[in-house]
Amino acid sequence: MAQIINGKAVSLAERERITKETEELFSKYGRRPGLAVIIVGEDPASKVYVANKEKGCQEVGFYSELYRLPEDTQMPELLSLIEKLNNDDKINGILCQLPLPKHLNEEEVILAINPNKDVDAFHPVNTGKIMIGNHSFLPCTPAGVMKLIESTGTDISGKECVVIGRSNIVGKPQAMLLLQANGTVTICHSRTKNLKEVTRRADILVVAIGKADFITGDMVKEGAVVIDVGMNRRADGKLTGDVDFESCEKVASYITPVPGGVGPMTITMLLENTLTAFKNTL
Ligand code: GUN
Repeated sequence: MAQIINGKAVSLAERERITKETEELFSKYGRRPGLAVIIVGEDPASKVYVANKEKGCQEVGFYSELYRLPEDTQMPELLSLIEKLNNDDKINGILCQLPLPKHLNEEEVILAINPNKDVDAFHPVNTGKIMIGNHSFLPCTPAGVMKLIESTGTDISGKECVVIGRSNIVGKPQAMLLLQANGTVTICHSRTKNLKEVTRRADILVVAIGKADFITGDMVKEGAVVIDVGMNRRADGKLTGDVDFESCEKVASYITPVPGGVGPMTITMLLENTLTAFKNTL
């Protein structure tokens, strides 16, 4: 039976460290890291994420601003808000919650954020830096996954790492971080042939495809570390990941639960990036 990776506990330890450092910096410089979060429209999942980001800031002693913009906001208004925040010294990190309503251009919004305040690490300057192994900010979810793997004591170097999913937010940067840790990395996606053959090779399996309970125990190598980035709602209303926990925990050595695995780490990594952005201004 696999050991369960406790994302809440790992996250709490990281947040305690961030809180302590924030207080030390405040007593030395009289300023706190500041995060601005922008949400456009009424997407229910986005509203929950944004509320949790605000709460996270309060917990660790950051200054924060929340901008709730109406669904019919147009690009010029959104871009002028970002410009104002780019020039505001109280704000070290700017995050515009995605997805945006369809009439808005996400790429243009990401490009408008000053790369030094891009705590999502979505701007091409930051994604490019991740690619060449010289990052300013690590993308939040993949960075959280790396912390969770680290918490198991697993040495990634030389291991077969399989990432399922190729999104810009998770799959692609995740592969880069595993590669940087000297893993042998394979990225799988919807067109991958013989998926099971590939996943069964994985010493470390990271799943981010958005399909409930998709990875079953027969697709997992004995003793693998299984990280589930998925967050899906079942017909009965229960939250579940992309990994069928019940069958996989019998085969894996370590496994993340949903909820309580990767989820709590993502916001913690956002706080970490905001602290880094603040320190870069001192
Ligand atoms: N939507 C889903 N995940 C994220 C994230 O990490 N950052 C932003 N800005 N939007 C998201």
